Amino acid sequence: MVLKVFDDFPAVLHIELGAGCGNFGLVYFPDCFLSDAESNNFLRSVCPSPTTFIDKLQCSAHEIPCQESRFEKVVMANPFNYGFFNSTQSEILFYELFRVLKPGGEAIVIANKSNPWGAYGSIADQLVRCTNGNELFSIQYTTIDQDIDFPGYLFLNSNRISKVRPNQKTVLTCLK
Ligand SMILES: C[S@@+](CC[C@H](N)C(=O)[O-])C[C@H]1O[C@@H](n2cnc3c(N)ncnc32)[C@H](O)[C@@H]1O
Repeated sequence: MVLKVFDDFPAVLHIELGAGCGNFGLVYFPDCFLSDAESNNFLRSVCPSPTTFIDKLQCSAHEIPCQESRFEKVVMANPFNYGFFNSTQSEILFYELFRVLKPGGEAIVIANKSNPWGAYGSIADQLVRCTNGNELFSIQYTTIDQDIDFPGYLFLNSNRISKVRPNQKTVLTCLK
């Protein structure tokens, strides 16, 4: 299935997965679709600021309803309950990211280094385990300081109450 909105806005070349209550993708990667696995009704009922909540496209990171090579950047901020924690999910996710990215496109993962779903160590480890030596991505890691890179932005934990400070950025560059 392909969501019509992806065809209706061909100039929008970025998408945030797992955006949850936030709008990180839209703030830091303009011209960005925001998406989450949960419905807007559910998110609005659990988010701390329902009145300022921005609607999301509902889709799982594992099955993004778009044609192949649709995006230049796929953003994952503070992934939790999806991501690179175990090999089963990681394998599906790596191949789906590879499918939806343009040649040279980037999957950008922002996380705290203690987050097993999104830390550089987990991603690098799973990339070796899951892709059978296929050269799907090159991987690059940088330390970030939230106060400099994303000042004032509120990253929420999976309970949608406590705050998280990301301190790592991992970029997977698509080797299509
Ligand atoms: C910890 S929250 C991060 C929210 C936001 N990016 C932030 O930093 O504040 C993780 C989000 O991932 C979403 N999620 C969980 N499994 C997912 C999946 N398979 N595909 C897409 N999103 C998923 C959850 O619904 C939740 O909103």
